Amino acid sequence: MSFEKVQECAAFIRTRVDGEMPKLAMVLGSGLNSLADAMEDATVFSYADLPGFPKPTVEGHAGRMLIGKLEGKPVICMQGRAHAYEGHSEEKLAYSTRVLWALGVEILLLTNAAGSLRAEVGPGSLMAITDHINFSGLNPLVGVNDDRFGVRFPDVTEAWDKKLTKKMHKCAASLNIELHDGVYLMAKGPNFETPAEIRAFKVMGADAVGMSTVPECLVAKHCGMKVIGISSITNLAAGMQAELTHHETMEYGAIAAVNLEKLLRAFVEEVL
Ligand code: HPA
Repeated sequence: MSFEKVQECAAFIRTRVDGEMPKLAMVLGSGLNSLADAMEDATVFSYADLPGFPKPTVEGHAGRMLIGKLEGKPVICMQGRAHAYEGHSEEKLAYSTRVLWALGVEILLLTNAAGSLRAEVGPGSLMAITDHINFSGLNPLVGVNDDRFGVRFPDVTEAWDKKLTKKMHKCAASLNIELHDGVYLMAKGPNFETPAEIRAFKVMGADAVGMSTVPECLVAKHCGMKVIGISSITNLAAGMQAELTHHETMEYGAIAAVNLEKLLRAFVEEVL
């Protein structure tokens, strides 16, 4: 998707929003709808109305961009995201993050639902993403590099911003919310993993597994944004509990969301 197309979409948004553009955007995974609904003075865009945007098709993902205030601070909430397993091209997966960058966003806060590979970190827990393993076989940065977005070979030694993650921990501590640290592994999906895959991922150093987030992180780092991430643990990974269903993912996602919402509000107050 060309630089011009990204700029065109950003201009479309900018002309419809009064006031300054937020420096922080949050991508809300399943179950975090009430946070977006709680925004004040929000201008709401359906992804379907945004030129070039991929449209999410999964239950629990609304597909809206909200630009407004949370705790009185300007933020953008992305309610729902496009996943690789929906069949979107790698290029399409880069698009919405690049539009946020073109709007002037500097900090991208990514949330997701994930399965835990650590028995002691159970459903309903929260995990700050300290690093990731891209096991999806996909990379949104493949293709001819446009230097206006970023360099050909981006350094991702610190893909997940350490200072911001520290601030998130500070917020969690002040709220008495337990926040684990861990490595997130992205599998392409859409099937949940096999128990053998999960055993292999444990050996590789993963703490949680999910089907999103890594493409957004890579694109954001490519264009110079700071990235922070939190996984809502919705289940123990395959082979570690009886069976896995999307329904259960939604149910525990909602439980984790109660703490995650409090945490995100405190974080917005802390960093903006
Ligand atoms: N695997 C992959 N994605 C997920 C899981 C899981 O166990 N739980 C929630 N999203």
